[in-house]
Amino acid sequence: MQLKITVLEGDGIGPEVTCEAVRTLHAVAALNGHKFDFATGKIGGEAIRQTGSPLPTATLDMCMASDAVLLGAVGSPEFDALPATHRPEAGLLLLRRAMGNYANLRPAIAYEEIASASPLRPEIAAGADILIVRELLGGLYFGEPRGISYDNGNSVATNTMTYSAHEIQRVARVAFDAAMRRKKKVASVDKANVLETSQLWRRIVSEVARDYPDVMLEHLYVDACAMHLIKNPKRFDVILTENLFGDILSDEAAVITGSLGMLGSASIGGEVGLYEPVHGSAPDIVGQGVANPVGAIASAAMLLRYTGKLEQEAKDIEEAISLVLKAGYRTPDIKSPIGGVMASTSEMGQLVIEALAEIADRRYAYHAV
Ligand code: IPM
Ligand code: MG
Repeated sequence: MQLKITVLEGDGIGPEVTCEAVRTLHAVAALNGHKFDFATGKIGGEAIRQTGSPLPTATLDMCMASDAVLLGAVGSPEFDALPATHRPEAGLLLLRRAMGNYANLRPAIAYEEIASASPLRPEIAAGADILIVRELLGGLYFGEPRGISYDNGNSVATNTMTYSAHEIQRVARVAFDAAMRRKKKVASVDKANVLETSQLWRRIVSEVARDYPDVMLEHLYVDACAMHLIKNPKRFDVILTENLFGDILSDEAAVITGSLGMLGSASIGGEVGLYEPVHGSAPDIVGQGVANPVGAIASAAMLLRYTGKLEQEAKDIEEAISLVLKAGYRTPDIKSPIGGVMASTSEMGQLVIEALAEIADRRYAYHAV
């Protein structure tokens, strides 16, 4: 298998964690006889500093000409005063839209080994396994009109929430298809008691559900969903929701599993998949070697699964992560009150690579018998 991968390290801890994800992909290629070609581009604050634009044309062209894009993180406090459309985050939003990736898959798995890192009691968090399917190209993030205007000395800010039936249908299908491969449950999250967009959302999701008679569908208001996630995360299988609700609920689900640093994501639907950890650029811990690279490495696994159709290789990476956690290695965000061995960002990456080699050896030995 040959894959052309564009790497956008971005801002903050983006370069540190992405480096470990790329090293992991090199290891997978070497162990399994694949050829992955990497090209790097600029995005976010780094791109603004060098070119004035958060998404330079050269970067977008490079992304569109590749099979997949692996992104670190965007965002930097030095641009906080700029209008939304000029900030580093705008680069990521423009990229998602240009690539047409309307479905964002964010699996939140509470590994037993790090259940003690969850703010919830271990018996509540451990074993939770949720897939959040977040609509990525609609709603308040992209709706027009938007902006800040001045009316008689009074500032007025406007954002618009819009959804078409077509936008809802296509992301709903992704959620139901995913549920068919899991526990066959979809919780569709909206605010249909207040918003028209949510009323349409509910109606269209119910229509799509008719094509999936084996999947159990429930509708939940977003406030209730936030509450149930904390009370009993194990009740969820697939959560389907619109852009902003998905942004908020995925951070909540992530921290329940132990740490925001653990989660990867895949944005699919367009021709080129975009893979990025759920966490942000974390400017407070940049350059200290303490960032958790597991979210970025898990994103690389999703790249192999969805773009490369390399299910076994994706599973191997996920198993390698599990083995490293089982062996007790921890970055500070997932440190255990009862011990464990502290590992730096690059040590954690190296451990995953060693675990991958071990998994490959085991498979080889098994076949040799
Ligand atoms: C995320 C992030 C982004 C979002 C930001 C950086 C624009 O929070 O991927 O969850 O809001 O989508
Ligand atoms: Mg977010």
